[in-house]
Amino acid sequence: MNVADFYECLWDFAKSRVLTVASQTGILTRLAGSAATTEEVSRDLGLDDLATGKLVRALCSLGVVAADGKHYRVVDELKPHLLPGESDLTPFVDHAHGLYERWGATLEEWVRTGTQPKRVRTGDQLLKFGQGMRASAGLMAPQVIRALDGFAGIRKVLDVGGGIGGYARFFCRAKKDLEVTILDTPEVADLGRKSLEKEKFEGRIGFIGGDYHETDFGSPQHSEGGPKKQRRKQRRSYDLVLLANVLHIESPEDAATLIQRSADACSPNGRVAVVDFTIDDAKRENVMGCLFAINTRSFGDTHSGPQIKGWMTAAGLSDLRTFDLPPAHWMIVGRA
Ligand SMILES: C[S@@+](CC[C@H](N)C(=O)[O-])C[C@H]1O[C@@H](n2cnc3c(N)ncnc32)[C@H](O)[C@@H]1O
Repeated sequence: MNVADFYECLWDFAKSRVLTVASQTGILTRLAGSAATTEEVSRDLGLDDLATGKLVRALCSLGVVAADGKHYRVVDELKPHLLPGESDLTPFVDHAHGLYERWGATLEEWVRTGTQPKRVRTGDQLLKFGQGMRASAGLMAPQVIRALDGFAGIRKVLDVGGGIGGYARFFCRAKKDLEVTILDTPEVADLGRKSLEKEKFEGRIGFIGGDYHETDFGSPQHSEGGPKKQRRKQRRSYDLVLLANVLHIESPEDAATLIQRSADACSPNGRVAVVDFTIDDAKRENVMGCLFAINTRSFGDTHSGPQIKGWMTAAGLSDLRTFDLPPAHWMIVGRA
């Protein structure tokens, strides 16, 4: 890196804040809806004229919006991700803002002491986090479905730490006879049940509320109204066990155990899929992977490919394959 890149890097925090403020004030959604001058944007949203002008021009410099004379609009590629709907990333932008605040408040203390204040999310914060994860799953789930050949040969899925059903929604829409059981904490499972109340999955998405370190993986329990047969006890019954963005919260020992228990819950020829942040083997080149390792502080890590594959092999999984899930993830899949 030269000094110019170093200087620019020091200002990267400002790019993140420009994006999150533009989202929080409604500027991004406004300019994704239709082109407007900065005066029209500030008038429509009740914002300060001068500040809005500077922010929108900064968005233009970053390539988020394009200019046509005095009018600005969000570039086509980003539009679907900034308007209400399935692909809307706005809740994930809110989540990113939470990270920005937390990094600002606690990172130095963690580096100096290895500790930081414990965070306990309130119900509202848990819901917001779940919505943020669901929005990010909107980017990833279609790639997962494609990599797994549209779920050919897969009928029963266990989504360990599956949140409020971000992946499950996409999976069940993509395959009409798919059944997904989500295992997450009791609080998150309740939020998931509520958030799915109005969606028509005919009981194909069920929740188990419990600690995934202690809860039996082999016992699907579907939500009220699900077909009766789904509530029976079953073992080694899943065609796919998904661990998406879960292993990075865990130590290597606990991650290995989760993979072993996932492999044990697979039907013959079933698969275990790990979706997580990509990182190089030495954990010192991939920028997003290294930054995310810091995000997991002392409790987890961005685990490397050889680590994950080693745990899979030890769990008796074979035919290991890696798929890139841009922008920053991979999926490593093994067969039971
Ligand atoms: C980073 S989120 C990933 C959510 C989802 N799999 C995704 O990729 O969008 C981690 C999830 O694991 C859940 N989780 C963390 N520790 C858990 C535990 N010990 N038992 C059950 N769920 C847990 C959290 O509640 C959260 O929903």
